Amino acid sequence: YTAELDASDIEKGTYPHFMLKEIDEQPFVMRNIINQYQNENGDLKLDDDIRAAMKGADRVYIIACGTSYHAGLVGKQLIESIANIPVESHIASEFVYNMPLLSEKPLFIFISQSGETADSRAVLVEIKRLGHKALTITNVPGSTLSREADYTLNLYAGPEIAVASTKAYTAQIAVLAILAVDSARAKGIELDFNPLQELAIVANAMEVFCDQKEEMEQIAREFLAVTRNAFFIGRAADFYVCLEAALKLKEISYIQAEGFAGGELKHGTIALIEDGTPVIALATQEHVNLSIRGNVKEVAARGAYTCVISMDGLQEEGDRIVLPKIHPYLTPLVSVLPMQLISYYAALHRDCDVDKPRNLAKSVTVE
Ligand code: G6P
Repeated sequence: YTAELDASDIEKGTYPHFMLKEIDEQPFVMRNIINQYQNENGDLKLDDDIRAAMKGADRVYIIACGTSYHAGLVGKQLIESIANIPVESHIASEFVYNMPLLSEKPLFIFISQSGETADSRAVLVEIKRLGHKALTITNVPGSTLSREADYTLNLYAGPEIAVASTKAYTAQIAVLAILAVDSARAKGIELDFNPLQELAIVANAMEVFCDQKEEMEQIAREFLAVTRNAFFIGRAADFYVCLEAALKLKEISYIQAEGFAGGELKHGTIALIEDGTPVIALATQEHVNLSIRGNVKEVAARGAYTCVISMDGLQEEGDRIVLPKIHPYLTPLVSVLPMQLISYYAALHRDCDVDKPRNLAKSVTVE
């Protein structure tokens, strides 16, 4: 595979910003991934070497930074629940100085949009020195992390230009889901989950959602136009998406934002809630729906201005957005979209430089 740079990928076309263009490209990226990871019979197509490496691992260590780290958290859940392999997800810059005890047969997975992040590379160099195997999941074939690892999986998301990562995040999760299913099959685990079919449903859901931008703009204006801070709360997979939502908002709108696990609020964070504090809650996980609803009531009772984003089948009256129903393994692929758009419009209304936020670089090649 060689990256084919279509001129339209590196130009904004009719879009005011790359970030908005890249958000809109996500349904297309999902379909591209389906095509790239499918053989002529419509089955999954993955390298035998990668399958063998996953099958032989007694533990997977995911290493990444920033948004890619957040995709790794979702990946941990996918690989553990689908392929039954224990997984740890780590921030590269911490792992390199504070390495946990490794299992006997570890496999390292590096997730990096650019494939050039120095913090991740430092870990790769160290684990290679220790004699371990590495798989890199990247959007840039031929990048440093790809060349120096034993195996590579490509994201096929096309060039991502905006500093704040959007389509790479969803592509990373989609590829991790495919990897998890392929590993499960290698281990003889029976599944009633066809990732290619489910990703096609995701692509359609993303598309429906990309057509509802006015509502996202309205929410951004109402909740985030003048605030100093904002909180995102969720449980289970929604919590991971909340971490990403907060990072997105911080990066491009400079609002102090944090993502919290709903159950952890009472252990400290709830002290920050005042009259009018914006709290955006995700409620797409059936098994914790009651608990997160309880958390929304707790913050609302203390004056928070709440906005609930739920999913078809789990909605309650007053929910601001109801996402189309998709497979429970894949909810982050769709629930992150309103978060990306809300951040985008918040930054726009605050006159921030959406594509090139202050102090940040697209690819950080220094430690
Ligand atoms: C930079 C970017 C982030 C990105 C992180 C990891 O800090 O600003 O958006 O998530 O690097 O980048 P990578 O290319 O390794 O995914």
